[in-house]
Amino acid sequence: MSGARHLYLHLPFCAHRCGYCDFVTVVGRRGRHAAYVDALLQELELEGGSLDPALETIFLGGGTPTFTSLPDLVRLFEALPAAEEVTVEANPETVTAQVAHALRAAGATRISLGAQTFRPRLLDVLERVAQPDDVRRAVHHLRDAGFDNISLDLVYGIPGQTTADLDADLDDAVALEPEHLSCYELEAKPGTRFTHAWGVELARQADAMEEYFERVVARLTRSGYRWYETANFCRADTAGRDLRARHNLAYWLGHDYLGLGIGAVSTIESRRWRNAPGLGRYLAALTAGRRPERELELLDPDVKARERVMLGLRLDEPLTVGGLRPALDPEGLARAEGLGLAVDSGETLALTRRGRFLGGAVTAEILA
Ligand SMILES: C[S@@+](CC[C@H](N)C(=O)[O-])C[C@H]1O[C@@H](n2cnc3c(N)ncnc32)[C@H](O)[C@@H]1O
Ligand code: SF4
Repeated sequence: MSGARHLYLHLPFCAHRCGYCDFVTVVGRRGRHAAYVDALLQELELEGGSLDPALETIFLGGGTPTFTSLPDLVRLFEALPAAEEVTVEANPETVTAQVAHALRAAGATRISLGAQTFRPRLLDVLERVAQPDDVRRAVHHLRDAGFDNISLDLVYGIPGQTTADLDADLDDAVALEPEHLSCYELEAKPGTRFTHAWGVELARQADAMEEYFERVVARLTRSGYRWYETANFCRADTAGRDLRARHNLAYWLGHDYLGLGIGAVSTIESRRWRNAPGLGRYLAALTAGRRPERELELLDPDVKARERVMLGLRLDEPLTVGGLRPALDPEGLARAEGLGLAVDSGETLALTRRGRFLGGAVTAEILA
């Protein structure tokens, strides 16, 4: 059996913690960056047997990978196997000309830049460090360094946001001509400081989400972007490149991947594991040459089939049903078809445009 062709590395360090963020992050700790990269490389050594020698994609996510001390980041790159797509997540204010050139020289092929919004008062609400001009400057530095595959992240449903703000954000993002855009509904976890501070306004934003989503899709498809996944859009490339995010596509298509670093998830065949989130224990384990603590889940074929349907229906290409039929509820599927939300051709299953707007609710109806 060949190994996973997709590798994720989690670089958790950030300059500060944004109020809405629920990712595994560690603020500052510059003194630990070198030790963390050593530990990642040790973990790669221990788990490398799960990887196919010919990798398709590597994704360095965070946290803020570009906040990691540059010599350590470059050292990490130099020790990684080659891959066809190598994406690095970056925060705009960290992308100097030097960082852009170093990433390019080290082999990154794609940058995913967290813009979130171009409205200064909404950036304040999100507690972001970057200002709109930092995003523009970062894109220019990346272009100068030779990057021809840049993705921008936007979020919507920010406390205080209006539809006019969202339209202006979409205009500002499109003006930078990114190859790819990810546009996420802002998720605010109950019980967090952010949710306490913005509760009433978050409820008002929740009522507007459907309209925001429709505006995002309408604006981006009108500008020539392909709505290829619920929250993801890519340009049709004049050179014929497929500009979808190949690494994320692997998740949505149910392919195996290995994840390294604190909080990272791996799925290899019928096993899924998640590394514990604590930095100290992670470093201690790997320094001693041991695997980090992790939670293991065994995925039975039913769970895998349901996941394939849930994730596969997020894409604009029909899902090949094959052995997935037992995961489908024939009555629910017939109801969804009757309402014009899904199309079952026998061999393939797809959501209609209207079905894609309703997304998870339709999938829940279709699943057995
Ligand atoms: C793993 S985060 C890290 C990216 C980078 N550190 C940054 O902040 O730009 C990747 C993306 O997830 C999205 N994201 C983070 N927290 C979110 C939330 N609470 N709701 C929706 N999207 C979120 C943001 O668009 C962000 O750019
Ligand atoms: S910079 Fe990104 S990963 Fe870090 S706290 Fe902010 S949103 Fe989270």
